[in-house]
Amino acid sequence: MRLVFLGPPGAGKGTQAHVLSEEWGVPHLSTGDLLREERRQGTKLGKQAQDFMDRGELVPDQLIIEMMAERCRKPDCQKGYLLDGFPRTLSQAEALDKMLKQLGHELDAVIDLAVPEPEIIRRLSGRRVCPSCLRIYHQETMPPRVEGTCDDCGAKLVQREDDQPEVIRTRLRAYESQTAPLIAYYQERNLLHTVDGSIGVEHTRRQIQAQFGLSASQ
Ligand code: AP5
Repeated sequence: MRLVFLGPPGAGKGTQAHVLSEEWGVPHLSTGDLLREERRQGTKLGKQAQDFMDRGELVPDQLIIEMMAERCRKPDCQKGYLLDGFPRTLSQAEALDKMLKQLGHELDAVIDLAVPEPEIIRRLSGRRVCPSCLRIYHQETMPPRVEGTCDDCGAKLVQREDDQPEVIRTRLRAYESQTAPLIAYYQERNLLHTVDGSIGVEHTRRQIQAQFGLSASQ
């Protein structure tokens, strides 16, 4: 199972990929999480990515492509993976095609989560994340059982620095100009499946499972 989750910031790519990765037993590869971890560890890549991320701009293609080429070659990716946040430009999509070819792998599908902009802004403004196990919450629609504390690992929840209004606007512009063209790219390759991402986490998950004929029992 090799899937790409496409969609604007806040569409629910991370939320869906996290749940489905556990159900299907394949890793969830989030470029955003990988980059945040590089930053936390103070690596060269983390330092190179930092300013772009803080401004809400995309990190240069070459850095992302190298990071993902290395990650996708790890043994846990043999059975497949769910890509969240990659590819995000045409160059990255072409690099992914090349990478898959070299490894003798194929993409099964690209899931485009469609969500209107006002809902995106509401979601990102209320998002809280666990810095330890990376679980995603929302203050109103998906609150933790104990306010400010992760249900799974007990860590203190935080707001992502790029979830500030000005940065959210820049991220949305970056999506429109650099990532949205991938919809046509994958449509031409008959890989695109558009899923309504505005209908609640559980409903969206069921739609994805219905499209792929997969459920927890299979
Ligand atoms: P990244 O971390 O990938 O951010 P993003 O794409 O902007 O996506 P988000 O993580 O904000 O949203 P999401 O779709 O995962 O939504 P989520 O599930 O969290 O990237 C961050 C930065 O890293 C980029 O700006 C860039 O600088 C850099 N970067 C990353 N990848 C790159 C690449 N390939 N190339 C270059 N640069 C790159 O959900 C959001 C909220 O909504 C949550 O609170 C959740 O609880 C709630 N929610 C989710 N689904 C639903 C639902 N169905 N109903 C109601 N609420 C929901």
